[in-house]
Amino acid sequence: MNMKPINFYLIIVIVLVGCNQKPKKEKFQYERVQENSSEVIQNNDIQNTVILNSNDAMLFDKKVIKVNYGEKITLTLNHVGKIGKDFMGHNFVLLKKGVDVDDFAQRAIQARDNEYIPEGDEIIVTTKMLGGGESDTIVFDAPEPGKYIFICTFPGHYQLMQGEFIVI
Ligand code: CU
Repeated sequence: MNMKPINFYLIIVIVLVGCNQKPKKEKFQYERVQENSSEVIQNNDIQNTVILNSNDAMLFDKKVIKVNYGEKITLTLNHVGKIGKDFMGHNFVLLKKGVDVDDFAQRAIQARDNEYIPEGDEIIVTTKMLGGGESDTIVFDAPEPGKYIFICTFPGHYQLMQGEFIVI
C-alpha cells in the first residue's frame, strides 16, 4: 500500500507547519505587550539593572554603561577579587557633568576617612567602598540624558577604573 507513506508525510508537514506558526504568533503577542508597556526597551545594550564587576587586577568589567532616562537605575557593584578594601578597595562614583576628573580624584586621595569621597557637590551617586568578595547595590534616578564619567576613587585606581555612563 502506497497510501501509508503519503499519510505519514502529510502528518509530518502538518506538524511542521503547526510548529512554525506557533512561535510566530507568540512572538507577535510578546511584541504587542512590549509596545503597550511604558518600559519599551528598544536597544538590548540599554539595561536599567546594571551589574558592574571589579577585581584584584584593578579593573571594571564595563567601559560603557547605557541606561534609559526617566527610570530608576539599580546598579550592583561586585568586588569579585580577594584583596581587602585597605589595599584593593573599589567603589562606583558617578560624577556630574563638567567635573574635572583628575582634580576630583586627587582630592579623593585626601578623603581616606570618608571612603575616599571628597567634600563637595560633584557626585550624582556612589556605592560603598568594597573589599574582595563584597557587593553593594544602589538605586537612583537616571540623570538628564547625556554622557557622564564613573570612576573608582581608591588612590591610584581612577585612570584604569573609569568608564562612560550614558543616559539615553
Ligand atoms: Cu578601585
